[in-house]
Amino acid sequence: MLRTAVRRFGTTAMRAAEVTSHPGGKGIGISKAQGIAQNGFIDAIGNTPLIRMKKLSDETGCEILGKAEFQNPGGSVKDRAALFVVKDAEDRGLLRPGGTVVEGTAGNTGIGLAHVCRSKGYKLVIYMPNTQSQGKIDLLRLLGAEVYPVPAVAFENPENYNHQAKRHAERLDNAVWTNQFDNTANRQAHIETTGPEIWAQTDGKIDAFTCASGTAGTIAGVTRYLKTVSDGKVKCYLADPPGSVLHSYIQSGGKLVERSGGSITEGIGQGRITDNLQPDLDLLDGSLHVPDEQSIEMVYRCLDEEGLYLGASSCLNVAAARNVANMLGPGNTVVTILCDGAYRYADRLFSRKWLTEKKLLDAIPKHLEKYIVLP
Ligand SMILES: Cc1ncc(COP(=O)(O)O)c(C=O)c1O
Repeated sequence: MLRTAVRRFGTTAMRAAEVTSHPGGKGIGISKAQGIAQNGFIDAIGNTPLIRMKKLSDETGCEILGKAEFQNPGGSVKDRAALFVVKDAEDRGLLRPGGTVVEGTAGNTGIGLAHVCRSKGYKLVIYMPNTQSQGKIDLLRLLGAEVYPVPAVAFENPENYNHQAKRHAERLDNAVWTNQFDNTANRQAHIETTGPEIWAQTDGKIDAFTCASGTAGTIAGVTRYLKTVSDGKVKCYLADPPGSVLHSYIQSGGKLVERSGGSITEGIGQGRITDNLQPDLDLLDGSLHVPDEQSIEMVYRCLDEEGLYLGASSCLNVAAARNVANMLGPGNTVVTILCDGAYRYADRLFSRKWLTEKKLLDAIPKHLEKYIVLP
């Protein structure tokens, strides 16, 4: 019986080898695929590919590499933070079986948390400003979350959605407010996973890293890991959209100005120094401002040149990586983050009316206007 099984296995393996090594075959390197995610959804988070941006690399003479975070099972870089803030609450005894997670978010963190909570059997309550689209509310509800859209008031107002989320958790037994902005378990996700993955994938041959900040978990955690493992050699730069104060804060050596203006990018830009950013601020080598014109142009270029359908924050990051490459000169390897795909933003990013309203139509190169397919 054993001999038959061995023979059968041998034959199967041979057949598999034949298929994958078929001359002229279009194999995708199955041997490199991940193993089974034994614990379900949460085990499928991370270990995302590092994609070489061919055209931009050729253009700059550098290696420009994008970490494909849109390949996380919930669709964004925030799956990592969602998993770590939930695990942290469990480890600290704040969340026990059947418990409730409460968060204030209108974006990817809510989606990541919804998946993680379902997969681990927790309830999820989300507070968000009522200015958010019905689509976002519907998505979170269909992912199982209880959603409270509340009046959009400033952070200083006790009725701000974040404070309401905190109070909601305090009213319940066995519940936690995960507080993504100031809970450093968020940054820890990137110290323990994203940073080491980038270092391993580049074999330590990385000269610079850049990305934008929302909560700052990603930029702070990756910067902390890469600076530590490279003895400070990897240069790290924060990329900032219009309407965010971080670039001017870093350039001025620590002057915090009032937040004003806005950007087409979502999920990034900040009006204050979060607890996730504070410990790693001094490690940064500098910062760059990336105007919306560059981010939107890169949305269209990534699609046309690389076949990558990316959201605006990812494309701000790619533009920043290109700018860092130009600043450092040929021969350098620059890594950035491809945070999520364009799916949730397509009705705006590819709409002629929206681009005109935002005065961004002229930023799309003429030969790429064919991608503006929505009225
Ligand atoms: C689309 C998108 N890009 C980037 C970020 C920023 O990541 P972080 O919060 O780690 O700074 C977020 C955060 O929510 C996001 O939703």
